[in-house]
Amino acid sequence: MDNKELIRLAFEAMEYAYAPYSAHKVGAALLSKSGKVYTGCNIENAAYGPSNCAERTAFFKAVSEGEREFERIAVVGGKDGRVTSYFVPCGVCRQVMSEFCDDDFSVIVAKSEDDYLSKTLKELLPDRFSPKSLSSE
Ligand code: THU
Repeated sequence: MDNKELIRLAFEAMEYAYAPYSAHKVGAALLSKSGKVYTGCNIENAAYGPSNCAERTAFFKAVSEGEREFERIAVVGGKDGRVTSYFVPCGVCRQVMSEFCDDDFSVIVAKSEDDYLSKTLKELLPDRFSPKSLSSE
């Protein structure tokens, strides 16, 4: 699975975004180490707080189906689904990534299939709190 295809799947997932409050549509496509792709979109709520980001939707779908190891995620988003800038994951989503991913996990933020940046989880969340932080050693 190349980056271009993963980004294409993130754009496809963005179509399903439920964002009547912010009007910002977001899509994500998460590649597991087993080679499967799990897509996600943001899902908002009238009470605002229960809203879920696209990245976490993808992670929760994957983990709930038995996946625990991940290689890459592609993320796209923008107002009314118009992707004009790189849509970087929020802090909560970075923390969810931190639970399951290594430092070198790649986060691809894209404007199009050919215009994207690739960042590592370590770059996005240095000195992160992770399962290792709770080890007794
Ligand atoms: N959103 C995401 O889906 N992913 C992020 O990483 C940042 C924000 C969503 C949440 C909300 O539905 C909308 O974008 C505006 O914040």
